[in-house]
Amino acid sequence: MLPGDGIGPEISNATKPILHAISKKNDFHLNIKEEKIGGASIDETDIPLTERAIATCQESDAVLLAAIGSPKYDKLPRNQRPETGLLNLRNSLKLFANIRPVKVIPALIDQSSLKSSVIENVDLVVVRELIGGIYFGKPKGLIKTEDEERAFNTMTYSTNEIKRIANVAFNIANTRKKKVSSIDKANVLDVSQLWREIVTKEKINHPGIILDHFYIDNAAMQLVKDPSQFDVILTGNLFGDILSDQAAMLTGSIGMLPSASLGSNGPGLFEPVHGSAPDIAGQDKANPIAMILSAAMMFRTGLKETTAADQIQTAVNKVLNNGYRTLDIAGDPLKALGCIAMGEEILKEINAI
Ligand code: IPM
Ligand code: MG
Repeated sequence: MLPGDGIGPEISNATKPILHAISKKNDFHLNIKEEKIGGASIDETDIPLTERAIATCQESDAVLLAAIGSPKYDKLPRNQRPETGLLNLRNSLKLFANIRPVKVIPALIDQSSLKSSVIENVDLVVVRELIGGIYFGKPKGLIKTEDEERAFNTMTYSTNEIKRIANVAFNIANTRKKKVSSIDKANVLDVSQLWREIVTKEKINHPGIILDHFYIDNAAMQLVKDPSQFDVILTGNLFGDILSDQAAMLTGSIGMLPSASLGSNGPGLFEPVHGSAPDIAGQDKANPIAMILSAAMMFRTGLKETTAADQIQTAVNKVLNNGYRTLDIAGDPLKALGCIAMGEEILKEINAI
């Protein structure tokens, strides 16, 4: 478990008793080890992720991360920033597939800034390539000449990188509505042209799947115009970063959405889509649900404890149906529960199962 920064420790504390209750209920033992990441690690060791923390994660069956980052570290050099810790963790565990499901929760449909008629049938998954593309591409850097500076990054994908992420998307689609929308910028970028070519070729091995292609600008537009047309969105690292925040907000609160980052083998990383929300940190205002649902995703995908995952999801739905809300999803702030109280309500429902 990596509580990280900002609201991270609070939502982790709300989640821990739930992990213990669930393991007791389902007769398995959870051995939870905690490590620091991001600013929390920088404060102690000057680096955002230690070798020891990486080793602890590698030796685990699954990693549950809360959130990283704080403006306090914005001025540090890149290799000492909290974000670098997260990128190193993804890279060290070879977590090439980031999976972000976005499903509208009926009890919260009015929280969205979009009309409920537009979002009522939204049930999609963003499959984002996570350890390639422009985030990790080389060469990159900064060149200083006498009269100016020039900074650059490289967006690059190889055949194999595209194949393996495309297969993840096709396999997920196969368990759903069997539709994959691949997002690129093939009308301009060479890297996207290769992306489109390889995705189209890989599709031949998945005859039951319907594949369509969108340019990123059109996809962004379609995602607010008619989001329910999407089933599985397959895309690269940078486009996926942007589209997954946009898709998350269809539901009205990014505070509700879990994610999984997976490799070919080894532990997966499970974390809320939202960030560390430094503006509300330490005030008992955070919504712990995305973290709690990330734990559910960890049980389902990472630990193959399906019943445990179902129980957590049922408990969260009950609490929402009973009208309990945190600040981010409450119409009336006076009716909002704090992070601790929301965790306790969910725990109560789990114990009642
Ligand atoms: C995300 C975040 C990260 C990313 C940051 C914190 C490095 O925005 O998980 O989407 O850009 O991948
Ligand atoms: Mg992001």
